[in-house]
Amino acid sequence: MIDSFTQLYGVFGNPVRHSKSPLIHNFAFQYHNINAVYLAFEPAGVSKCIDAVRTLNIKGASITIPFKESLMEYLDWMDEDAAAIGAVNTIVNKEGSLLGFNTDYKAAVEPLKPFGITGKQVCILGAGGAAQAVAYGIKKEKGHLVILNRNKKKGENLAEKYNADFFPLDDKENISKIQPDILINTTPVGMHPNIAHLSFPLDYLNPDTIVMDIIYNPLKTRLLKEAQSKGCRTIDGLSMFLHQGAHQFRLWTGISPDIDLMRNIILKNGDL
Ligand code: ATR
Repeated sequence: MIDSFTQLYGVFGNPVRHSKSPLIHNFAFQYHNINAVYLAFEPAGVSKCIDAVRTLNIKGASITIPFKESLMEYLDWMDEDAAAIGAVNTIVNKEGSLLGFNTDYKAAVEPLKPFGITGKQVCILGAGGAAQAVAYGIKKEKGHLVILNRNKKKGENLAEKYNADFFPLDDKENISKIQPDILINTTPVGMHPNIAHLSFPLDYLNPDTIVMDIIYNPLKTRLLKEAQSKGCRTIDGLSMFLHQGAHQFRLWTGISPDIDLMRNIILKNGDL
């Protein structure tokens, strides 16, 4: 029941109406009998996010595009992983001090851990903000990275940061020689409404590759569908989304929520 003790949490982004975070966090608060609500906020600028959190004593916040980087300078403290990645996706309000974390990088590697990452060759498609967190997570697990990106400079910068190989997406000759153990798409290619688009030339995909997409709209991207038809094992974009949310919930409440229950809530109500 919402009353005068109800604590406020929320996601800050712009645009934010597509976010599935309110679904999973409100479910988890109710499930664990915590008197809290989680809402979606679309402020005009990053300083307004921080003002809102401080003024309304918002206990925890998820941060999404375009505030993940620009927010950092307003925080009172940041953990070393978030600082190294250069992005914060979670705020914990600890008695008025705003602490910044990044749960994306852990979320990227957790669905892959059962398959093993150490010593594996991991190919990342894209070199934007999401790729930064994914690359950090893979490197921390001692995977060997190969970056493929359309923009050469951006791809080279990411590769340099993580001691990875880099090939431009149109370098068919070199790409055909890569036989990654794991392939992760971090680009928006294949996302609704452009669901027919493909981020990787599938001729080069072999059935032993584990293919992961961080897009969850649609849940089965063309990349995942075609990889499955080649016999590859696949990991959908909800996996990373749910793990980053579960880590946030743990940071805020100390409770590890059930990922499968959260997945069901999205599949039932998330309109994917
Ligand atoms: P995010 O921060 O969410 O990762 P982003 O910064 O827009 O989003 O990065 C998206 C990545 O997907 C970028 O690396 C982008 O490639 P460029 O660096 O060449 O811009 C990549 N990307 C976006 N649209 C693409 C497309 N149509 N084909 C190939 N790559 C694309």
